[in-house]
Amino acid sequence: MSRTVQWDDDLRADRVADTFRKLFGGSPDGVWAAPGRVNLIGEHTDYNDGFALPIALPQTTLLAARPRTDGRLRLHSAQGDGRVIDLAPAALAPGAVPGWAGYPVGVVWALAEAGHPVGAGADLHFDSTVPTGAGLSSSAALECAVAVAYDELYGLRLPRPELARIAQRAENAFVGVPCGIMDQMASVCCTAEAALHLDARTPERHRQVPFDLHGQGLRLLVIDTRVTHDLGDGAYAALRAGCERAAALLGLPALRDLPAGELPRALDTLPAELAPLVRHVATENARVAEAVDRLLEGKVAALGPILTAGHASLRDDYRVSCPETDLAVTAALRAGALGARMTGGGFGGSVIALVEAGRESAVGGSVTTAFSTAGHRPPRILDAAPAAGARRLGTR
Ligand code: GLA
Repeated sequence: MSRTVQWDDDLRADRVADTFRKLFGGSPDGVWAAPGRVNLIGEHTDYNDGFALPIALPQTTLLAARPRTDGRLRLHSAQGDGRVIDLAPAALAPGAVPGWAGYPVGVVWALAEAGHPVGAGADLHFDSTVPTGAGLSSSAALECAVAVAYDELYGLRLPRPELARIAQRAENAFVGVPCGIMDQMASVCCTAEAALHLDARTPERHRQVPFDLHGQGLRLLVIDTRVTHDLGDGAYAALRAGCERAAALLGLPALRDLPAGELPRALDTLPAELAPLVRHVATENARVAEAVDRLLEGKVAALGPILTAGHASLRDDYRVSCPETDLAVTAALRAGALGARMTGGGFGGSVIALVEAGRESAVGGSVTTAFSTAGHRPPRILDAAPAAGARRLGTR
């Protein structure tokens, strides 16, 4: 394995609070953490009102925050260019804030738009360990850190799924990415040692499914292919529009409403370019149900073939894999992974591989060698474990 990362959020919180003091003078009112995620199964189902099964990663975005009284929003990121971005209230308009700051500012905008009293400004300092451009939801982590911090700072007491909706609205309407709600739900609602069974039609009815990965002698590798893809560039939106067209042609509110028995007839009647999308969504929703059943039986290793079948469907039907993600899956399976698949939106990003403890180096080494032979950049490999969702951290 090229890198195994252990992050200690509480130690990091003190450092983030110190940097806040240097940047803005005086202490923050608190430090909050929001994690990135990997999805075990249930890809491109959320915007079809379907099901997903993500876990939160130990990697988080930390936010030290303090309200202001003059309406100005000042933002700084340890991963940015060193500048403090200073925005007047008038800048809170969709499309007006380029780059990383659009995500946090979008959340402030979405909260205000929903009628919540958050308009008096704030000083915000971010520091993240969620890799960017790796399909691990670094943007959702940024958004959700702001959502939970503002919820507490302004005494809003919104239910977590509502915070996820606000964060999704920020990304859809302020940043302009037509994502579903999975990433934000994972970041705010996941719990340690569990996977989140999400029904995207009714996110408030999510449930925690025990995911005893380490107890069963297993590990989950996240293999970042280092091929980056911007979900805002049109491919994601085109797929989403294709699914919506297919649902309309089938006379359904959403593809989630297609009864399993009617899939063959639907595939016969749909235009050739839409049928594979529908087959993926229908079979992927079924894979989520199957994965949840296996986890409830305590059979974590039985997820392996479900993951691999999910990858084949994303590669052949949904067509969102790429040579690097396909190669990572093949090389991981060849080295004995129990199952592997791309995770997230696709066109690059990360692959997850379920492996027996002790096989991490063999599987990671196999993928690294395969990448080198194919002339790809070396992948980055993390050891993932189901971690807690967004939360306030203690500081000195
Ligand atoms: C991205 C989006 C999610 C979801 C996945 C695909 O991560 O942000 O809403 O659609 O792609 O499952």
